[in-house]
Order: sequence, then C-alpha cells, then structure tokens
Amino acid sequence: MKPIIFDVDTGIDDALAMAYALNSPELEILGFTTCFGNVPVEEAARNTLAVVEKLGKHVPVFLGAEKSLTRGMKERYPKHIHGEDGLGNTLDEDPMRTVEAESATDFIIDQVKKLPNEITIIAVGPLTNLALAVNKFPEIVSLVKEVVIMGGAVYVPGNVTPYGEANIVSDPEAADCVFQSGLPVTLVGLDVTLETLLPKEKLADWRASGKEVAPFFADMTEFYMSAYASSHPDIGGCALHDPLAVGVAIDSSFVKTEKLNVRVATEGEETGRTIGKHSGEPKIQVCTQVQSDRFLKHFLERIL
Ligand code: BDR
Ligand code: CA
Repeated sequence: MKPIIFDVDTGIDDALAMAYALNSPELEILGFTTCFGNVPVEEAARNTLAVVEKLGKHVPVFLGAEKSLTRGMKERYPKHIHGEDGLGNTLDEDPMRTVEAESATDFIIDQVKKLPNEITIIAVGPLTNLALAVNKFPEIVSLVKEVVIMGGAVYVPGNVTPYGEANIVSDPEAADCVFQSGLPVTLVGLDVTLETLLPKEKLADWRASGKEVAPFFADMTEFYMSAYASSHPDIGGCALHDPLAVGVAIDSSFVKTEKLNVRVATEGEETGRTIGKHSGEPKIQVCTQVQSDRFLKHFLERIL
C-alpha cells in the first residue's frame, strides 16, 4: 500500500476523488490536509470530515491555509459550480468529528520525516499548504516519493481565465514555488482532465445500487453536471478533474507524460498560466495524454 497525504479543497470533484482514493486498496490515506479554494478553508475541512464520515472511514483531517502566500484571502468562491456548501447543497448536517490540533503544514512535514522516500502527496486544490511546507522545511523536497497534482493547463486554455486553471490561479506563487522546488511532481492538468467524462446516465446506476452513500454522491454530482451544462451545453456529464489525479497515483499507465520545466506567470493577464519549456531545470512530469475510457471504468468500479 502506498502511504498518501491527500491535500483537498473539498469541492464536489474533490469529494469524488476522496471516495475513489478511500475505496482503493493500493492507497493508505494517512490524512487529509485542507486548503481554501472551492470554499473557505473551514468549510473545506468541514466538507472533508463529512465525506470521510459518510464513507464510514476514520482518517484524520488537518486545517491548512486560509489564504494564498502573497495575495491575501480569496474574494469569491465558485458557488455556481460547487454550491453554497461546496457539496452541491447536499450537506444535511455537520460532521461529528473535528479537525486535528496539528496544522496541515506540520502534518505534511512530520509524516515525510517519519517515512522518508515513502510518501506520495496527492494535491487537488491550490498548492499553498505544500509551498508552506517546502518553505518551512526545504529538506522534504528530497524525502517525498512523489507529488501528484491536479492543476494547470500547459497546452490548452484555462478554465477560470483564458490562460489559467482554478487551482493555480488561486495561488500562482505557491504553484511556482512547488514546480521549481525540485519535488518529483506529476502534473495532471486540464490537458488530460478535460479528456475525461463521467456521463450523466451513470448517476442512475449509482442511485439504483441501493448503497447508503449513493444518493449523496449522485445528488452532488448532478449539481456539478448542471453547472457544467450551462458552460458546455452538449457535454452530457462532467469532467473528472480531481479523481484523475487519484487514478494516476494508483496507476501511472493511465497517462503519458512529457518532462518539462514549468513556471507560473505571476503578473498581468496571464497570471496563473503554467508555461512548460523543454529547456531549464528542474523538470516535472506533465501529463499530455490519457486513456480516458480505461480510467473511467476503474473509477466507476471503486467510487461507491
Ligand atoms: C480544479 O478546480 C476546482 O474547482 C476543482 O475541485 C479542481 O480541483 C479544476 O480546475
Ligand atoms: Ca479541488
């Protein structure tokens, strides 16, 4: 089993990614660290605790960054995509458990020190917690086994600006810090996540499964699909951004990658753009192709 620290800004597709990871025998989730992003960080932590509880699991949750490294608090959250509560308005009650006393940054550092060269970090929100950990204890760079990140748009346009993808735009300085740190990063960006599609008909199968968690996941995903339909009328479903990062952490043969030096634009209209070059060091693995049907099948076998 791969020991995993999973950094989330829970969010509907984060919740799907959490379920996929928690139901995958190859992964041992040591803890979820939370970040602002789809919702403020306290809500991301609440949603993360709620999803863990609904799945009947016992994994600790850690509170992380409430704001970006240098740009302060986020002004607006994407409620039209993830709902008022970040879970498509499905959250019926607050979770019973609360976050751990340790901060997300300290949890990351402590676990990496405890299990040198063993830990995979999956990060599917802004990269603030990871950047804070690298800045506080730079030695983790050589002690982390792998970092699989959902973020960026190297060869394709962005989704929140013409150039930028949401997680990177939320904290461009943090993303640049992580990509330039020397951490062994695999970048699962819009280049590949937009090639994935969860068709709407699958939600009927979930509901028909009779599983206790099925209505929760089907309702929230239906909300997400409706948001998608308003911007992509003919899509008939939704992309699986964050779940694909989990898929790649389990089985890297879902994707093909290219080794590039990636910088993040931090000024002007291109702020948040991920710019990949064949020259320059350090290089990270940028995903450029995905076997989307094989990935979807794998995801659907495990999500409920
Ligand atoms: C990313 O942004 C968030 O809205 C999603 O949870 C995902 O991590 C997609 O651009
Ligand atoms: Ca996310």
